[in-house]
Amino acid sequence: MNQLFTSVRVGRLTLPNRLIMAPMTRSRADDAGVPTDLVATYYAQRASAGLIITEGVFPSAMGKGYVRTPGIETGAQAAAWKQVTEAVHLRGGRLFMQLMHCGRVSHPSLLPDGALPVAPSAIKPDGQIWTNSGQQDFVTPHPLSVAEIAGVVEDYRLATRRALEAGFDGVELHAASGYLPEQFLSTSSNQRKDEYGGPVEGRARFILEVLSAMAAEAGGDRVGIKISPEMNFNSIVDAAPQETYTYLVKQLGGLGLAYLHVALFGTNVDYHSLLRPLFDGAYLIGGGLDQSSAEALLADGRADATVFGSAFLANPDLPERFHQGAPLNVPDRATFYTPGTQGYTDYPALSNTANV
Ligand SMILES: Cc1cc2nc3c(=O)[nH]c(=O)nc-3n(C[C@H](O)[C@H](O)[C@H](O)COP(=O)(O)O)c2cc1C
Repeated sequence: MNQLFTSVRVGRLTLPNRLIMAPMTRSRADDAGVPTDLVATYYAQRASAGLIITEGVFPSAMGKGYVRTPGIETGAQAAAWKQVTEAVHLRGGRLFMQLMHCGRVSHPSLLPDGALPVAPSAIKPDGQIWTNSGQQDFVTPHPLSVAEIAGVVEDYRLATRRALEAGFDGVELHAASGYLPEQFLSTSSNQRKDEYGGPVEGRARFILEVLSAMAAEAGGDRVGIKISPEMNFNSIVDAAPQETYTYLVKQLGGLGLAYLHVALFGTNVDYHSLLRPLFDGAYLIGGGLDQSSAEALLADGRADATVFGSAFLANPDLPERFHQGAPLNVPDRATFYTPGTQGYTDYPALSNTANV
């Protein structure tokens, strides 16, 4: 039997299918981090996903790393997100907000008062970042003090509260792709000598404290985490990734999390076999899937649910298309991060009923 269309328990929710929409930054917020009206339309169009995970949302202004990305710090941001959750719930969907603090993957021009980006250590990422005035070199970040780390953990806790007040069904910690949580976890970006650095027990501490804070607000069964071992994106490299991620996932046990979302890119290591037995919540696999590979993962019992990114971006009615074996729209990379409706809310559904 095709398990994609069977229901599955994920924390407090029962999802009607096992097709989850991946978190995808779309840069359709205004410069104050407030999602525009279009954002509600975009997510509502995709409400037939078993679960929507939103684009990365900064918990506080210091977490912003990309132009026109949204936040969940101000009243205006929260009010706009409330419109989004209402639109998705009205269409029968469920959605988690992804909390994304970019840490050193940012630029003073994107931060309050031109502040330096923050990180565990004063180590500059290689390369450049897109800003309002074009590509600019990364800068050397400000290394967070222990007291400042406590402040960032508190920012995640407050962001979780605001997300729930705005009607989200839960929150996901973005601990992948080289952003702040992975900057703490990985040896190349964390050279601290205090309790937040050194051996893996120290490097994992920040992620575990953030998750505890999020779980304290939401209940562990409304909190998920995304990791991408060995993705090596944004200048992140870990000296012993199998040990690091084994330790981290073992420590998640006490938190009773809803899910562990593992997206693998460019590694030959079978992290799913390594990590899944260590985690007792729902195990989500994403990254480069198509319908048949997703069905195979579910049939082999390797995942509880499967996560689709660009296919959901381009196909608002992806579950229906898979169900019918219908052809898929092709994602247009040129409009992934551009403002406006084009390449955002104008991908056609099979029937107009999916358009709102
Ligand atoms: C336009 C775009 C934006 C993305 N933004 C995010 C993001 O904000 N947070 C995140 O965790 N992953 C982000 N990703 C990665 C996706 O969540 C997903 O892991 C990736 O697209 C692989 O899945 P796919 O092969 O099904 O597209 C983004 C991907 C795309 C295509």
